Amino acid sequence: MEQTGKPQAFTCGMDEMESEIANCSKRNEHFSGHIRLAGINPNCWYMIAKSSDIKERPVRREIWNQPVVLFRTGHGELRALEDRCAHRLVRLSHGRVKDDRIECAYHGWQYNGDGRCVHIPHLASRASLPNCQIRSFSIVEKRGFVWLFPGDPELSGSLAPMEMKEWEDLNEIPSFVRLTCRAHFSYLIENLMDMYHGSLHAQYQVWTAQSLQEVMEAENQVTATYQATTYYRIKDLGSILQLFIPSLRKLHSAPLTVTYDYPNWKSTLGEDFKIYCLICPVNERLTEAYLIHYTSIAKFKSLNDVPVVFRRLLRRALSNVAKRLLANLVRQDVLMIEEEQSAFDKDPVHPPVEVNRTIRRVQQLIRRQAVNPS
Ligand code: FES
Ligand SMILES: [Fe+2]
Repeated sequence: MEQTGKPQAFTCGMDEMESEIANCSKRNEHFSGHIRLAGINPNCWYMIAKSSDIKERPVRREIWNQPVVLFRTGHGELRALEDRCAHRLVRLSHGRVKDDRIECAYHGWQYNGDGRCVHIPHLASRASLPNCQIRSFSIVEKRGFVWLFPGDPELSGSLAPMEMKEWEDLNEIPSFVRLTCRAHFSYLIENLMDMYHGSLHAQYQVWTAQSLQEVMEAENQVTATYQATTYYRIKDLGSILQLFIPSLRKLHSAPLTVTYDYPNWKSTLGEDFKIYCLICPVNERLTEAYLIHYTSIAKFKSLNDVPVVFRRLLRRALSNVAKRLLANLVRQDVLMIEEEQSAFDKDPVHPPVEVNRTIRRVQQLIRRQAVNPS
């Protein structure tokens, strides 16, 4: 079966073909157009900003062609409304925050956090307010990011943003990189799931994928496991030095796991390397994302005896240690992704040739999640 609660291994050959045929009718219920035109499932939590991006001033963001204004009330609570004043349809993000309301820059109409117009400065004293309401969105802050639910608000409470348990773990050193690619989100996911492009990254790559071992599928996930060769290991001083001095590097074999946890992505390499990609599909040709990499120092057991305040300082001092490496990888990947998009735009009917079966699973997942245009 295509969708099951429990992950299940797929193999090549007859089983896979029969599974494909059996699923044809089911897939027809989902998006059947070209994969590069597939929409998003709006009933998910999407990372839309870093928490620290939203301060006193309203901030404009966009998710799948829906402009949104984010702001904090005087009490620091986050609000998200469609970025369009009901009066003359200009951007509310040009305006300012007044207590728990946002005020339009043009004529000063004010909206509360539910999107209801609650004050019009020049309205005659006895005149009643027009009955106008702009759209508001469910929004939460979690693990340093702002998450927005663009779909049915009634479903938002029963679903949760992607888990990232390393966020508060003092043994996990984070590095962040923001990523912007002028391409459909499917190209980014495929790049992240296909580990056979190590030659692109050359000196920046910490592993080489030897072979794809297994592709597992669950209702909202595809996981691919590769056997990789890497020098990345954090267990003593020597292992740290080899991260920076190529001549000291010693290779070992380690499992490399990549998971499309719709709509986001995560990966582990051995025990000491984890990475997340939080994805915001802005529109059909623009995808924003954050990569968050964690290096584990859990093997330095003596750190556990150090007072928490010093461990926090150490973590802060080491944060972003891998930022440059990540930024270089992203730059190389984005170049390829944008070229893929550009090639598709010039010649949408020219079919690419694919040999990694993970990619087919990824595309099937995107189709299952996407809503067919009515
Ligand atoms: S356009 Fe917003 S108050 Fe007039
Ligand atoms: Fe890459």
